[in-house]
Amino acid sequence: MSQKNQTLGEFIIENQSSFKYTSGELSRLINSIRLAAKVVNHEVNKAGLVDIIGAAGDTNIQGEDQQKLDVYANEKFIQTLTNRNIVCGIASEEEDDFISINSQDENNNNKYVVLIDPLDGSSNIDVNVSVGTIFSVYRRVTPVGTPVTLEDFLQKGNQQVAAGYVVYGTSTMLVYTTGAGVNGFTLNPAIGTFYLSHPDMQFPENGKIYSVNEGNYIHFPQGIKNYIKYCQMEEGDRPYTSRYIGSLVSDFHRNMIKGGIYLYPKSSKNSNGKLRLLYECNPMAFLAEQANGKASDGFTRILDIEPTELHQRVPFICGSKNMVEKAEEFMRLAE
Ligand code: AHG
Ligand code: MN
Ligand code: MN
Repeated sequence: MSQKNQTLGEFIIENQSSFKYTSGELSRLINSIRLAAKVVNHEVNKAGLVDIIGAAGDTNIQGEDQQKLDVYANEKFIQTLTNRNIVCGIASEEEDDFISINSQDENNNNKYVVLIDPLDGSSNIDVNVSVGTIFSVYRRVTPVGTPVTLEDFLQKGNQQVAAGYVVYGTSTMLVYTTGAGVNGFTLNPAIGTFYLSHPDMQFPENGKIYSVNEGNYIHFPQGIKNYIKYCQMEEGDRPYTSRYIGSLVSDFHRNMIKGGIYLYPKSSKNSNGKLRLLYECNPMAFLAEQANGKASDGFTRILDIEPTELHQRVPFICGSKNMVEKAEEFMRLAE
């Protein structure tokens, strides 16, 4: 039940009772992500000034060199979630292993684990192009009150209870789902408040944008090559437009609003593609499905893939339903 000018804080409170498990823990978790997003946003916005500050001989308070933003974002999200004693474990694209959170409190009953890509599209920072943060939330499968194990993180994407992203773009937005549709909130930087700006986001069923790193074309499987040629063919509503930012969050966000497909296929160089199942593909797939879109590795639904390792990579095709189905058809035909 959205009202005009609703803030993210209000939205979280209002929707708390619709969660399956209503202890308020998931609400607190989303609130922590909201807070960390604002802190990281502030730092991302200053990225272009780093050299200027450096030239003036300035270092940070501890006298350390300026940190890389992906390391900074990683620390901020982990700190925020750890300090507030909200989750029992965190896995991050930037960490080799998962982090088990040992609460001081013996009655630590935290149920959730978070998996995160703290800064997605980080190669875009130096050139002032949008980057993002992706997060994914599961209920632990091991008993509450014991240390988390790998099993808690290697769950199929269809077990996610929440997922979302922050896009640090011309505006900063937080977009997330708890399994009841997708809602987008835009940050008013003057007062540091996110407002519900994009209620109930939906992928158009068809789209006219395809997003793929075509520089890798020669290495793609035949099915993908054929699909790309299909996108470029003069017929019906084609050729489609090619748009590729090189940050999954931004490419996904645009395609969800305008209609489109994102592809990061396997190639003769990377047999599983590049994107990480747990930190990137699963959360985006959950969002896509919640927004009436689709996500596949070319043959299988992303959310049904059984993870075998934390940093596992999978081919990823995601976006408007009919476009993803067409790409899958080309994959099948070329088998
Ligand atoms: P990250 O910055 O977290 O490593 O992710 C970058 C990912 C994704 O965001 C983007 O779509 C893709 O890598 C771009 O890869 P290419 O440069 O190979 O196209
Ligand atoms: Mn990434
Ligand atoms: Mn990253």
